[in-house]
Amino acid sequence: MTTTIPSIDLIDALSQEYTDKYPSEIIELALNQAGEIAISFSGAEDVVLIDMAYRLRKPFRVFSLDTGRLHPETYQFLDTVRKFYNIDIEVCFPEASDVHELVTKKGFFSFFEDGHKECCGIRKVSPLRKKLATLDGWITGQRKDQSPGTRTEIPVIQVDEGFSGPNKSLIKYNPLANWSSQEVWSYIRMMEIPYNPLHEKGFISIGCEPCTRAVLPNQHEREGRWWWEEATQKECGLHIGNVKK
Ligand code: ADX
Ligand code: SF4
Repeated sequence: MTTTIPSIDLIDALSQEYTDKYPSEIIELALNQAGEIAISFSGAEDVVLIDMAYRLRKPFRVFSLDTGRLHPETYQFLDTVRKFYNIDIEVCFPEASDVHELVTKKGFFSFFEDGHKECCGIRKVSPLRKKLATLDGWITGQRKDQSPGTRTEIPVIQVDEGFSGPNKSLIKYNPLANWSSQEVWSYIRMMEIPYNPLHEKGFISIGCEPCTRAVLPNQHEREGRWWWEEATQKECGLHIGNVKK
């Protein structure tokens, strides 16, 4: 059953209604929405979104942002998932000319010197913006417990203020918002679905290879991302709406 694109005024109410529902019910709502909807898959434990969508037996789309700097394990995992579910993964690449200019002027590791914003802008945010311009909604694996500094208030459904256009509101579904890491991992184990082998090496949150490291016991997962930066509001720009002005 396809429903119309939810009216923007009703999104908050819809989010309230769905906040305690099982994540796959939120995914089902998203997949029933008219228009183009896709799951954004980072190659980490957000594989749960793909598994849930698959079990709904409805057509669904998946895209990944290939920054060019992912771990070999993540590339391998993307391929494992593609084959396991027999799905296409729409891979988004940065503009070659922008990457060329950045690395020519500043080398391959400029983010260690002047912060991750510029490189993330080129390798992640611009390609995402381009992709989202073709969509009416996207489904993410964001969770409240992933980042005490920025994600504690994310709703299960929201208007994506950061990426909506002047003539089109983009809807963002965060079906795992209220799940804990433990619930995600119980699901992965219970359903026996594939996971990124980096998780066996102490990685919890996984981003680009140079900017992600394993964490020690009891360190928060976000501490493994852009660890050389002091900022508590660690977001790369994909979820810029989470950062309080
Ligand atoms: S990030 O903004 O800090 O990099 P994080 O790694 O926590 O994000 O992932 C949260 C969600 O953002 C993922 O579940 C996924 O939906 C989306 N995401 C992050 N990185 C990517 C990527 N490379 N490709 C597609 N989606 C991504
Ligand atoms: Fe560049 Fe690091 Fe951002 Fe990846 S996470 S896009 S390598 S700054």
